[in-house]
Amino acid sequence: MFRPSKSIVGLDLGSSVVKAVEISLEGPEPVVTGFSRVEIPPGGTTSEAIAAVFREGRFRSKRVVTSVAGQDVVVRYVSLVQMTDSELKSAIRFEADKYLPFELDEVVLDCQGLGSLVGAEGSEAADNQMNALLAACKTEAIESQVELVHDQGLQLAAIDVDLFALANAWELCGVMPDDLEEEARGIALVDVGATRTSINVLFGGQTCFSREINIGGKDMTEAVARRLSVEIFEAEAIKRASESHEAEVNSAIAPVLEDLVSEIALSLDYVEHHSGFSVEEILLSGGGVLAPGAAGYIEQATARRARTWNPLEGLRVDAQRVDVEELEAWAPTLVVAVGLASRVRAA
Ligand SMILES: Nc1ncnc2c1ncn2[C@@H]1O[C@H](COP(=O)(O)OP(=O)(O)OP(=O)(O)O)[C@@H](O)[C@H]1O
Ligand SMILES: [Mg+2]
Repeated sequence: MFRPSKSIVGLDLGSSVVKAVEISLEGPEPVVTGFSRVEIPPGGTTSEAIAAVFREGRFRSKRVVTSVAGQDVVVRYVSLVQMTDSELKSAIRFEADKYLPFELDEVVLDCQGLGSLVGAEGSEAADNQMNALLAACKTEAIESQVELVHDQGLQLAAIDVDLFALANAWELCGVMPDDLEEEARGIALVDVGATRTSINVLFGGQTCFSREINIGGKDMTEAVARRLSVEIFEAEAIKRASESHEAEVNSAIAPVLEDLVSEIALSLDYVEHHSGFSVEEILLSGGGVLAPGAAGYIEQATARRARTWNPLEGLRVDAQRVDVEELEAWAPTLVVAVGLASRVRAA
C-alpha cells in the first residue's frame, strides 16, 4: 500500500510567472502529482512568488530542480577527440577557455558527450572525433538561486539550463521518432516566454543547436500599451482578452511577431545549412504563443509545420491533488517546469 515513490518539483523561475510541476515515479511510471503557478505582480519578487506557489500547490516533496537562462549562461557545441565522459569532465576545464567569454574562475562548468550523430550528412565527425556540449554558468547566478530556494525551506536537487529542460520535456513526453524516416529530420522546440524566446533543435532525439532571442510576450504587451495609449497592466489584460480589441491587438503585436519569426527562421536556416538535415516541424510553448494568431503566423512565416505543444500529453495526472482544468489551460507554458521535474527519473 505504501509503495515508496520519488518526487521532484520542477520549479521554473520565469521572469513573469513562477511555475511548478511535481512529477512522482509510481513504480516506473511518471505521474503529475502537483501543480501551481503564480504571476509576479508589478513590484513583486520571485521569492514571494515561490512562497505562494508552495502555499497553493499541494506538493508531496520539497525537493526542487530549477534552471538558469539568459546572459548568465553560455552553451557551446564543440568537437573534440573521442573520450569517455569522465575524461571529458577533466579535459573540459582546459578546453573551456577557448570557447567561453567568461573567466574560468567565475563560472561553473558542465559538459556532455553527444556521440557523432550530430553533424549528420556532409559534416560527419571524423572517426576519432566526438561532439560535446559545453555549458557554463556564472557562479554568482548559481549562488543566488541556491539562496533563493534555501530561504524558502526547499531542497535543491539540481540546477539545469532552460534550453535543455525543453529537450528533457520532449523526451519525457515520449514523442521520440519511431521510424527511420522520422529520425532523418530535425525538430525545433521554441518557447516564447515574457522576456525571451528559447530555441532548441533536436536531431535524432539529440540537441544540436540552441539559442535565446530577447523577444517575448512583454514586447507584445508594450506594443499594445503604445498602440492604445494605456498602462502596461491594462495592455496585458487587453492582450489576453483579445476579442475586446481584436484588430488593434493584432496589428500592435504583428511587428513583434515579425521580428521574432525572422530570428527563428534565421536560426533554422543556419541549422539546415550546417547540418544537411531539414527542420520540418516546430513545437511551440511558452505564454507568448497564447497570443492571438501567433502559432498560425509562425507556421506560415517560417513555411514549416508548427503546433502548440502540450508537454503533459500522455502523462497520468493525479486528479486528487491537481486542478486538472487549470493544468490543461496552462499546459503550453509548463514545458520548462515539466522538463526540470523529469529529472525525477535520475533522482
Ligand atoms: N492569453 C494570452 N495571450 C497572450 N499572451 C499571454 C497570454 N497568457 C499569457 N501571456 C503572456 O505570456 C508571457 C508569460 O509566459 P511564460 O510564463 O512562458 O513567461 P516566463 O517564463 O515568465 O518568461 P521568461 O521565460 O521570458 O522568463 C507573458 O508575457 C504574458 O503576457
Ligand atoms: Mg520561461
